[in-house]
Amino acid sequence: MPFVSCLECARCGKQLDAGKLANLCECGGPLVARYELHRVAVRRMRERLASRPPTLWRYREVLPVNQESSVVSLGEGFTPLIHAERLGRKLGLQNLYLKDESANPTGSFKARGLSVAVSRAVELGVKKLVIPSAGNAAGALCAYAAHAGLEVAVFMPEATPAANRLECALMGAEVILVPGSIKDCGQAARERAGKGWFDVSTLREPYRLEGKKTLAYEVMEQLNWRVPDALVYPAGGGTGLIGMWKAFGEMHQLDWIGERRPRLFAVQAAGCAPIVRAFAEGAPSACEWKDPQTIASGLRVPSAIGDFLMLRAIRETNGAALAVEDAAMLEAVKELAETEGIVTSPEGGATLAGLKRLLADGLLAGYETVVLFLTASGYKYLEVLETLDLGRSAKRHDEN
Ligand SMILES: Cc1ncc(COP(=O)(O)O)c(C=O)c1O
Repeated sequence: MPFVSCLECARCGKQLDAGKLANLCECGGPLVARYELHRVAVRRMRERLASRPPTLWRYREVLPVNQESSVVSLGEGFTPLIHAERLGRKLGLQNLYLKDESANPTGSFKARGLSVAVSRAVELGVKKLVIPSAGNAAGALCAYAAHAGLEVAVFMPEATPAANRLECALMGAEVILVPGSIKDCGQAARERAGKGWFDVSTLREPYRLEGKKTLAYEVMEQLNWRVPDALVYPAGGGTGLIGMWKAFGEMHQLDWIGERRPRLFAVQAAGCAPIVRAFAEGAPSACEWKDPQTIASGLRVPSAIGDFLMLRAIRETNGAALAVEDAAMLEAVKELAETEGIVTSPEGGATLAGLKRLLADGLLAGYETVVLFLTASGYKYLEVLETLDLGRSAKRHDEN
């Protein structure tokens, strides 16, 4: 592996050999990949980007895969960053951008982490993968595993949207529906992992984070390397948020940016907001949220292994964690569709609902450059969209 130097525990700092298959550190902390960022080839990556294909693999010097032949790709990443002029005008924001992640394989940003994790697993000889998932991560894993010819077992909450259940079954995975939340699925998946399957739970597997961090490299490339003022992210397990924070740290070490970072805002659902509560209490980590309830399945995460990292990222960047109601998310989904032509998921809607709160509370100002992460396609949530009152849109044709 030319540029990865080691895996480092985010809790105790212990360094491990990155050449071996790994899940957590023995202290229970998540492992993160570190790179030799002083190497000339890494420092000059930016100059080579123009000639590279439009996928996240264009940032290969800061990704953990050794051999190009190990890369399992379906064209993920380099999704559009859309200047939302109409919506921005309504909100009094001149520089509002939407990162439309529905353009990824299987329609969500989960493709990023799972393309990288599956590629690295292939490189290390893994044949059987197990995942607990709120839905989109499982869909993405099944796609890359099918492409690479690997076996997959998926543990999903019973309430997972039909599109996620069906796509996994369609791609040949063993799909197990678990009564309860993603936390219960995690326990079931870990039992399976004890029987020789590799656990690719987010942050228990080190390389999904690397795939997710490419969101930040992309936003920076698409903004011509100008650091935006604020990133608004719908946070469940928080891997994308933590990944972007890590990526900005790397870009600083590469001397591509100075000290200034975008402020990181995590939006959660009012019915499942453990990070918001911990942020408000000034706590370094979060307590489990009892009875998580929200239509945004990706935000139904009652406890996250990376809670302490999310809180650190938000505080270090002078951001905030805030909760929005399901009704506000749905309204926002409709508004994004009507004003910008993007059919996003409730999690994507949460970012716009959150942005409105941030503007109302004076935490963001009209001149700032803001990026909302629309993490999945609304087409995967038809059950939720059907609950919207779309009134005039669906009139029956009158034959007379
Ligand atoms: C559409 C969508 N948005 C956001 C999230 C939350 O992502 P993260 O775990 O990075 O916080 C998920 C997770 O399942 C998701 O499916």
